[in-house]
Amino acid sequence: MRGRLWRLSMKRYLVATAIVCAVILSVFTGVRQESRGQDAGLADTTSGTSSPVFVTEIPDGYRDWRLISVAREEGSLDDIRGVLGNDIAIQAYRNGVQAFPDGAMIARLAWSYVSSEENNKAFGRSQSFVAGMPKNGVQFMVKDSKKYAATGGWGYGQFNEGVSAGEEALVTCFGCHERGAARDFVFTRYAR
Ligand code: HEC
Repeated sequence: MRGRLWRLSMKRYLVATAIVCAVILSVFTGVRQESRGQDAGLADTTSGTSSPVFVTEIPDGYRDWRLISVAREEGSLDDIRGVLGNDIAIQAYRNGVQAFPDGAMIARLAWSYVSSEENNKAFGRSQSFVAGMPKNGVQFMVKDSKKYAATGGWGYGQFNEGVSAGEEALVTCFGCHERGAARDFVFTRYAR
């Protein structure tokens, strides 16, 4: 009688142990699978084998952003340009923040640089140059330190008559903007 009881409780003990082991094992393999998934995700963005991510859509309402400054380029570009920033970018400029926060966006618009007969008449001499037709596309820099980690936290975009210039064209952007690394890859200074 006592022997049977002992055997019965021993059996229960073994079953319980087996269940606990199975639970521990399944939790353990689950965690391992999860962390393997994370590793794979990380390898995707840091291995350099995956293609970089660029700005593929024109940010909404960019034409209403505020003025940062203007510039004139000669040579093959031969244009006059305006650089605009969204609220986050403008705030960072005005606060003198060195590294732009995520969400900051900067647009570079450009137009042909033309002499204005109308203005020259008003001045009574030839001296006036203004913006003509849009030229050299519209360019954007969008800050997202995670998404664009491979290119200094900035995504680059170029649109010619509303059409994305494509990724191959965008590889050059960071190559040059890298020279402005000391000021978070942004060349234009805020014109007071
Ligand atoms: C050879 C160097 C060079 C290349 C290549 C270049 N940029 Fe720039 N970029 C500049 C300089 C210098 C300025 C500031 C003066 C100006 O606007 O002309 C500028 C200005 C800008 C600005 C305004 C913010 C700032 O940094 O001053 C944006 C936005 C921009 N570039 C985007 C792009 C994009 C997108 C590409 C790629 C399609 C690109 N740039 C390629 C040199 C370059």
